[in-house]
Amino acid sequence: MKPLSYRVNSSRIPVLIGDSDSPLFAELRSAQKAAVVIDSRFASIYRDLVDGIKNVNGAVVADFHPSEENKSLEMVEKLLTYFLERDIRRDSVLFAIGGGITGDLAGFVAAVFQRGINYVHVPTTLLAMVDSSVGGKVGVNHAVGKNMIGAFHQPNAIIMNTSFLGTLPKEELICGLGEIVKYAVLNGDTFFDFLEKNYVRLLNKDRKLLQRIVRMSVETKKRYVEKDAREAGVRAHLNLGHTVGHAVEAATNYSKFKHGEAVLIGLIAESHIAMHMKLLRPSSFERILGIVRQIAAQRNDKVPLDDVLGRLNYDKKVKAGKVRFVLPTGIGRVVVRDDVTTKNVVDAMKFVAADGMLNLA
Ligand SMILES: NC(=O)c1ccc[n+]([C@@H]2O[C@H](COP(=O)([O-])OP(=O)(O)OC[C@H]3O[C@@H](n4cnc5c(N)ncnc54)[C@H](O)[C@@H]3O)[C@@H](O)[C@H]2O)c1
Ligand SMILES: [Zn+2]
Repeated sequence: MKPLSYRVNSSRIPVLIGDSDSPLFAELRSAQKAAVVIDSRFASIYRDLVDGIKNVNGAVVADFHPSEENKSLEMVEKLLTYFLERDIRRDSVLFAIGGGITGDLAGFVAAVFQRGINYVHVPTTLLAMVDSSVGGKVGVNHAVGKNMIGAFHQPNAIIMNTSFLGTLPKEELICGLGEIVKYAVLNGDTFFDFLEKNYVRLLNKDRKLLQRIVRMSVETKKRYVEKDAREAGVRAHLNLGHTVGHAVEAATNYSKFKHGEAVLIGLIAESHIAMHMKLLRPSSFERILGIVRQIAAQRNDKVPLDDVLGRLNYDKKVKAGKVRFVLPTGIGRVVVRDDVTTKNVVDAMKFVAADGMLNLA
């Protein structure tokens, strides 16, 4: 398989996609001294792996319970103290092993530990493999909002062992697939056709196909990150499905929908908006709807429409009076628009509710 990597400024970040732990152990052994932050749920399933890691050159291992509350500055301070007291130094390498929460937090610890040390991402969820581990965005939450504190700090390597996905609960798999549908819409017909053909086998965790789709997704994200590492322009296209998705998450206090599920809702709502603004053909809308329906679970959780609109208005205040929507104009094409009306959003949310993905309150 062709090695994959992406470039930011003068660095090349290798992305190793396989089904063994050897590359991880090779990196651990070559590190002067390793600081490891590991997702506690993952660690409780993969005990032998954790024991193996602890035996490499006196690696310092910190267990971390992944929750959005724990993705906090307080936890950053705790981890910094833990590592400082155990002789982790500027030339140590930090390993972030876990889902997106662990990766965001541990990557941020690496970014600020003595002004920044090297780190290696080892994503263990589908979402972390296809999205959060790639691109160097790290950070934590603040009471004011999610991901409000952070940095761009590129890892030295990203090591993906897709066999870890074998133990991932189905709802977490669906979350990763939410981002994958987004990539398919951004990427074009080849990716989209592949997903249409293979979603059943992906939902059944066909190993080969999972590995293939992880690779296709990383290749898609890579294009945006290489063009726009600090998200000043085209990287914002990766927010397709996220404007409405984030508003739905916020309107339900991040307690009802997982991020990827909210993205699936956002993809339908934003495609509906695009169709009603005559930007997207009904046939393309139907294709996007068709695939999302197959992947997303039917839900009847209540989502207060006023709070969704309130959240979008809040975004408007924060972002100089305009909410920018990334809207699909076809499979493989998007446009950024700031003239979406409240009625467009209300109609789209009503459509999503009528389709059974949520209940409006
Ligand atoms: N930095 C970025 O660019 C970026 C992009 C997208 C999302 N994110 C962030 O990612 C986070 C979500 O990540 P996530 O969806 O991976 O959630 P997560 O980190 O909470 O992981 C989901 C669950 O899966 C468990 N888990 C991890 N690996 C497992 C395995 N192999 N088998 C069984 N269980 C396993 C975890 O313990 C957790 O309970 C959010 O905080 C989001 O803000 C960041
Ligand atoms: Zn996302």
